[in-house]
Amino acid sequence: MDKRSIRELDASGKRVLVRVDFNVPLKDGQVTDDTRIRAAIPTIRHLLDQDARVILASHLGRPDGKVQDGLRLRPAAERLSALLRLNVPCTGDALGIGTEDAVRRLRPGEALLLENLRFHPEEEKNDPAFAKALASYADAYVNDAFGTAHRAHASTYGVATLLPAYAGFLMEREIRYLSQLVEDPARPYAAIIGGAKVSDKIKVLENLTKKVDLLIVGGGMANTFLLAQGKSVGKSLAEPDRVEDARRIIAAAGERGVRLILPTDVVIAKEVTQGAEYKTIPAEKVPASWHIVDVGRQSLATMEAALADARTVFWNGPFGVFEMPAFGAGTRHMARFLAGLADAGATIVVGGGDSVAAVTQQGLAAKMTHISTGGGASLELIEGRTLPGIDIIPDAAPAAGTAGGAA
Ligand code: 3PG
Repeated sequence: MDKRSIRELDASGKRVLVRVDFNVPLKDGQVTDDTRIRAAIPTIRHLLDQDARVILASHLGRPDGKVQDGLRLRPAAERLSALLRLNVPCTGDALGIGTEDAVRRLRPGEALLLENLRFHPEEEKNDPAFAKALASYADAYVNDAFGTAHRAHASTYGVATLLPAYAGFLMEREIRYLSQLVEDPARPYAAIIGGAKVSDKIKVLENLTKKVDLLIVGGGMANTFLLAQGKSVGKSLAEPDRVEDARRIIAAAGERGVRLILPTDVVIAKEVTQGAEYKTIPAEKVPASWHIVDVGRQSLATMEAALADARTVFWNGPFGVFEMPAFGAGTRHMARFLAGLADAGATIVVGGGDSVAAVTQQGLAAKMTHISTGGGASLELIEGRTLPGIDIIPDAAPAAGTAGGAA
């Protein structure tokens, strides 16, 4: 899935509209995790170094087409300015005379960030007039917003039909590593899927049973699988209406010879609150009034033994209530184990908020082969779906000598 690359764009002196995904967490007006901003820097730097005039565009949160002061992009612009050591102002609106003027006055080697695109309802509707207004700012378009590539919005899709479109460096990297998982993973190939709800990831699990050699299911979603096995899960988060889906996935794994590992022991707590009493017990002995909050050590040992010879691992989603440190031990442990596997030469791809946080908080990011900046987008790619924001970028020209036809 090679897409026309930013490397093929002669950006010198041109105005380039760059869709980035600066949908980053904020607290008290500060960016608390700048991973996505850092990840876009190679593309932005490359364009600035070519003396392009760079117009950055992003969404932040889900303001539903209305201006929300708490979702202004200024904190992201400030963080970006600090990282680039270049002042990148943020406009007060993505549209309007003031913004048009600021774009016109940009000089080569300068950048600005448009205000949150989703303050306009037309963005998510992929409104043609909105896309045209964005396109009018630039001579070329680069999409580096992998995290939003599963949305067919004006800034991710419509605008790419109006301007010459290219994939940025981050987009290229994400496509390379994630499509390799779908197309040609080195085997044995294992997937570790956690997170709260099975309903969010049914398609992913179904598709994975067609691809992987080993499937590990953990986190809140494993509780629904435990129900499917006839176990009781007490007061734990579970989706009884999804038990049939879990049964189907268990059966599909069995038919295809995929080894499926579920927790055999779990950490349970009286309340899902920091400081609550907790203990580890076998998965079939969860008392009616307790909650499963993490995976147990015996399960982790089984998972590690099964993963030991894996040559490719995809990990998405935590094993427990990761946001509470006492219940995040299983997730942190898995992050350390996978870092060791990566050291030993396995390809490890991690996606999704909490699993990525478990890696980065422990300083292990550099060890992993690839950390995806896209939660939903990476899962949709793994599901085998076509992402509109990628699809609309023209394919790369065939390399010389590989064009079709008889020699
Ligand atoms: C994400 O964080 O997954 C992307 O930025 C997309 O955001 P959305 O789910 O609100 O479209």
